Amino acid sequence: MYVCICHAVTDHQIHDAVDGGVQDLGQLGEVCGAGTNCGRCREMVQELIDRHLAEAVSYAA
Ligand code: FES
Repeated sequence: MYVCICHAVTDHQIHDAVDGGVQDLGQLGEVCGAGTNCGRCREMVQELIDRHLAEAVSYAA
């Protein structure tokens, strides 16, 4: 599913980026541009980052 339309970034790309070490919206923007144009996706992108980080923590525990 596309989350950032401006940069054609999907939820899978966001998950992969978090798996690769991205921890916040600013870092993700540097990696793939998500959230760096119109900004309408920023809330959803942040939610996906937070959710995937929380999942990663719970799997590690
Ligand atoms: S939809 Fe992501 S910056 Fe516009």
